[in-house]
Formats: sequence, structure tokens, C-alpha cells
Amino acid sequence: MKLVFATNNKHKLQEVKEIVGDRVEVLSLKDIDCYDDIPETGSTLEENALIKARWISEKYKCNCFADDTGLEVEALGGAPGVYSARYAGEECNSEANMQKLLQNLTGKTNRTAQFRTVIALIINGEEHLFDGVVKGNISSEKMGEAGFGYDPIFVPQGYDLSFAQMTSEAKNSISHRYRATEKLSKYLKENYD
Ligand code: IMP
Repeated sequence: MKLVFATNNKHKLQEVKEIVGDRVEVLSLKDIDCYDDIPETGSTLEENALIKARWISEKYKCNCFADDTGLEVEALGGAPGVYSARYAGEECNSEANMQKLLQNLTGKTNRTAQFRTVIALIINGEEHLFDGVVKGNISSEKMGEAGFGYDPIFVPQGYDLSFAQMTSEAKNSISHRYRATEKLSKYLKENYD
């Protein structure tokens, strides 16, 4: 079976391919010659994932899935959430995003947060949503160099290390994206094997 993943992010593609295995051929947007800048105008992760998946499925008439991720901080009412990539402005600057988040949490004792990924799958005209969550805390300062985005300030529950201090294998074995992709993989296995 062929499935288009609405991304050109090589790391995400590799991670997904490893989880779903050989029985599904996962294609990127580049593989189908799609260079569209798909507008992410939704106000929830679910809406954005569906917007991207519907765009691809309608235009290219193929089975596909799309993901959207946000960091949800309890003391900030779930912010930055769906706006995680552009929290400090449209330029998607991780350093500025982290500084803004640390600033907004100054003096707050509740540092509880979670990463949440939503995957929207459109297959044979049916829509399905899968989500993956990893709970943790926002540290008081940056720790570690690895990873990307908010990794240096996110400490997963049960660990003393931030995501940016963990190996990619350790992070990927508990991450929000891994958990959502596992659900997608299980669904495909149970219904399309
Ligand atoms: P996207 O939906 O995967 O593009 O993620 C939106 C934003 O969430 C990214 O720009 C990152 O800032 C942040 N993000 C997503 N996944 C992670 C992660 O695994 N670690 C740290 N930040 C992440």
C-alpha cells in the first residue's frame, strides 16, 4: 500500500518509515511533486492536521496522512499549543520561542506541560485521527544541545534530563510523535494488512 505523508521533513519521514515498516510505502510531498505551501489556518492541532491531509487527498487523489504538533503548557492555558512554531513571531525561531515561554513562566510554580501530536489519516475516503502525548515539565533554563524546537526546556515525566540531553533513540522511544505514529501503524496493521 502507498501512503503520502504530507511532509518534507527527512527526520519525520525516517521515523515514520521505521515504525510502520515495509508493508506500507510512505511517500513524501516531494515524491509526488507537491511543492504547495499548505496554509495552516486551523485553531486546533486536529484542524491543522485535517486541513493538510484534505488538501493532499483532494488535489492528488491519494491516501495520505498529515501531522501537527504543539507544546501545551498548563499554567498558560494550553499555550503555545497550535501556535508553537510561531510563538515569538512568524519566523519560527526556536531560540526566541523558548525565551518567550521561559519569560511567561517566570515566578510560576506550575511548570507542567505536554507535547501533543495529532495525525490525520485519509484512507479510501475515510478520515481518522490519532494522537500521542508525552507529559513533562518546563525547566527553568535551557539544558542540552541535541534535538530541535523546545527540546532544551522540556523534561519528560520520570526523567531528570531534557529532551535535548537525551539520545535521539531515547527521545524517540517515548515521544509524542512516536506514540501517535504507533497508533497509526496499529490501525493500518489491523485494517489493511
Ligand atoms: P510541527 O507541527 O511538527 O511542525 O511542530 C510545530 C512546532 O512544535 C515546531 O516548530 C517545534 O517548535 C515544536 N515541536 C514539535 N515537535 C517537537 C519536538 O519533538 N521537540 C521540540 N519541539 C517540537
